[in-house]
Amino acid sequence: MKPTDTPKTYRVKSFGCQMNVYDGDRMGEMLAARGITPAPEGEDADLVVLNTCHIREKAAEKVYSDIGRLVKAGEEAGKKPLIAVAGCVAQAEGEEIMARAPAVSMVVGPQAYHRLPEMLDKAVAGERATDTDMPAIAKFDALPQRRKIGPTAFLTVQEGCDKFCTYCVVPYTRGAEISRPYGDLVSEAQKLVEAGAREITLLGQNVNAWSGEDDKGRRQGLAGLIHALAAIDGLERIRYTTSHPMDMDEALIAAHGEIAKLMPYLHLPVQSGNDRVLKAMNRSHTAEGYLRLLERFRAARPDIALSGDFIVGFPGETEAEFAGTLSLVDEVKYAQAFSFKYSARPGTPAATMDGQIAREVMDERLQRLQAALNRDQLAFNQASVGKTCEVLVERKGKHPGQWLGKSPWLQSVWFEADCAIGDLVTAELAEAGPNSLRGIPKVAALSSVG
Ligand code: SAH
Ligand code: SF4
Ligand code: F3S
Repeated sequence: MKPTDTPKTYRVKSFGCQMNVYDGDRMGEMLAARGITPAPEGEDADLVVLNTCHIREKAAEKVYSDIGRLVKAGEEAGKKPLIAVAGCVAQAEGEEIMARAPAVSMVVGPQAYHRLPEMLDKAVAGERATDTDMPAIAKFDALPQRRKIGPTAFLTVQEGCDKFCTYCVVPYTRGAEISRPYGDLVSEAQKLVEAGAREITLLGQNVNAWSGEDDKGRRQGLAGLIHALAAIDGLERIRYTTSHPMDMDEALIAAHGEIAKLMPYLHLPVQSGNDRVLKAMNRSHTAEGYLRLLERFRAARPDIALSGDFIVGFPGETEAEFAGTLSLVDEVKYAQAFSFKYSARPGTPAATMDGQIAREVMDERLQRLQAALNRDQLAFNQASVGKTCEVLVERKGKHPGQWLGKSPWLQSVWFEADCAIGDLVTAELAEAGPNSLRGIPKVAALSSVG
């Protein structure tokens, strides 16, 4: 590659899960610390970071079409952008990207992106570089301080996965489970609040597997960490995602009844409602075990909103087994959920299992499942009508005077009021649609920021 000018502007495009959003923000902060500024909306950036996801085939293929588009836009504009590929595709297919896409000058894995600035120096000098090391916790220490941020923030507390569900690439792309130290997290949360956050979502591939030692040397699980964060003044809401049924403990369930700042929402993927399929997926829980666990959450916090993830068409899934998923859905009545067609991922055990399901069968099952999930989501929203709750204002709506925020149950609520982003507005939920509700503020504006 030819040497090039030091980039003046950057753009980070993050795909996939919220962990990638967190990583993307942090990469942006590192670039900003070097004087590179975010490219204005609609303008080409000198440096583009594609922060990729490998979870399903479609997501992984996207990176090559994106690179193609960037190269074409660069040719038309007469200047080539520097391209970095980060995230889980970089981890899984680093060498292949370098071979297939000559326009890419940097490939950096999700555990190595704190070294992006050094790689950038090389790229400017005309060298291509790949870094997919997994030095566990190092990246968090090397990252610069947060600047001014919005009212909601992500905080990665745990990373990696040791569960090895037979369909999933995450244990390979993110490595083994690690927990960030308690003290680091409490201080990062404090800084997030000082920078403007009023709600923090704790992130982990298996967030409830987090464990650590508190400042008195006592062993703590996620509930202990949440108790500590709840003591931070100015932090109003705490959420966490994604949990695994096998890592749940009594303390976390109880926390939902004890900590007012912990929002009444639980995202707990189940994937299938059939025990044979669950076993073949290596999920290590049964459908019944999962349902009993949800009952305990409902006992601790009766209004808790439940969410889950589902896969249809896992190898060998019969019509009767799929019907088990539908009946689990009927029983739980999810407030929200994510459902996917099984996607065979290279290197995972399920990819070579017998009984791969035809695309049309998966399409049809997904449609039926989503119809049931949409029905329940609308019913949940309709059942919220008449409730009064706090809405955390996140952004302006389409029309003047209109605002959008989130209810404690993570529903989108829009309303008209004289308020500002970051306010907690008390509103009555007046009307429900499938994806949002209309609220009526109780007080014209109830700003609790000084
Ligand atoms: N650690 C989390 C989430 C992992 S990825 C958990 O275990 O719950 C998010 C979701 O993507 C998974 O819950 C699963 O529903 C889906 N997923 C993962 N691998 C997949 C694959 N190969 N095909 C289709 N969906 C997949
Ligand atoms: Fe993937 Fe299973 Fe780990 Fe979730 S628990 S990240 S689905 S291997
Ligand atoms: Fe995708 Fe990696 Fe997240 S594969 S879902 S970006 S952990």
